[in-house]
Amino acid sequence: MVLKDKHIVLGITGSIAAYKAASLARLLIKAGAEVQIVITPSGKEFITPVTLSALTGKPVVSEFFTANDGTWHSHVDLGQWADLMLIAPATAATLAKMANGIADNMLITSYLSMKAPVIIAPAMDLDMFAHPSTTQNIELLRSYGNIVVEPAAGELASRLTGKGRMEEPEKIMAVVENFFTRQGSLSKKKVLITAGPTYERIDPVRFIGNYSSGKMGFALAEECARRGAEVTLVTGPVSLKTNHPGITRIDVESAAEMYNVSIKAFLSMDAAILCAAVADFRPAEQYAEKVKRSGDMLNISLVPNKDIAASLGKMKKANQLLVGFALETNDEETNALKKIIKKNLDFIVLNSLNDAGAGFKYETNKITILNRNGERKDFALKTKKEVASDIIDETFP
Ligand code: CTP
Repeated sequence: MVLKDKHIVLGITGSIAAYKAASLARLLIKAGAEVQIVITPSGKEFITPVTLSALTGKPVVSEFFTANDGTWHSHVDLGQWADLMLIAPATAATLAKMANGIADNMLITSYLSMKAPVIIAPAMDLDMFAHPSTTQNIELLRSYGNIVVEPAAGELASRLTGKGRMEEPEKIMAVVENFFTRQGSLSKKKVLITAGPTYERIDPVRFIGNYSSGKMGFALAEECARRGAEVTLVTGPVSLKTNHPGITRIDVESAAEMYNVSIKAFLSMDAAILCAAVADFRPAEQYAEKVKRSGDMLNISLVPNKDIAASLGKMKKANQLLVGFALETNDEETNALKKIIKKNLDFIVLNSLNDAGAGFKYETNKITILNRNGERKDFALKTKKEVASDIIDETFP
């Protein structure tokens, strides 16, 4: 009973899926939680506060004041009281307000004052869900450390079919239970994560780089932080944001910079997960001035960069864990196993570019984990966030 006596603020907004929030409240109560509902004015158009308060045994909060007696409802108190805030359903408008701090109702003010983690289950029509502004708002909310339960695909209230339907209450419950099971499981652990590409400078305006987006490394950092770890995230140039208080982000550009920061940080770490796509070589010469076109050929000589993983592997003490990544196109398993030994890794996460939906460009990834004993675990194609969770379960079993 991980939910026993947990304080949950359940936020309900104006979507037809609000009717499912009643089942969700019931499931939370049955699991032993205390539930305080906060509903937006348009949420009340879809489900009555009477139904909800009958389920939770508490008056539903909606306005800043109770109109008849002027009682002030404190969003700050709710923020302090809660162990978790769950917003289900969350409309496109609510997501936009949450992402931008537009505190024009009790639910958003409660969200902004929330001390507890927040899980959001969006619900909207497929085109609204697919709109770039919604995508961007969800990305922002994730970067604030909020957990998003992706909507399901299927028939929508509009009779259109597509992705946007709020996930079923049982599935949301599973996310909530999972959250409490894992919460704090990594407290007092220190984890170093490298992420993104490195840029190897040729001259003041050009570099050699790669297509790594950093998404996998950021997902790992966020998941570790969510479980209570103190994370040092060393990242190459990426366009990602992260605001989780448990993450100390150090931005670097080149492999040499990433090497220096990582070697220093590793001394105090319990584990390092090396997700960065580090350039193996850099130009032998870095030109101070922009290189001008001259002649038909331009030769750039490259010299090797230091291998961060191998160096950490040499430094590694018995109580430290080292996890590497391998992106292979052929002889995947043999090559990955060689890297485990060469770099003294505890295990390696293998991405194959032969798998559809895996690799740099995608939101999803498909991994295989190989350990030093040659044991192999294959995982299904999942979102990078889910993959991050699998990798962390493997690192800290
Ligand atoms: N890595 C690193 N420092 C480097 C190169 C790689 O820390 N200079 C790490 C990566 O972050 C990854 C792992 O080593 O965790 C594997 O990287 P990869 O480039 O595939 O390995 P290489 O040893 O460079 O092998 P190859 O280029 O032959 O595939």
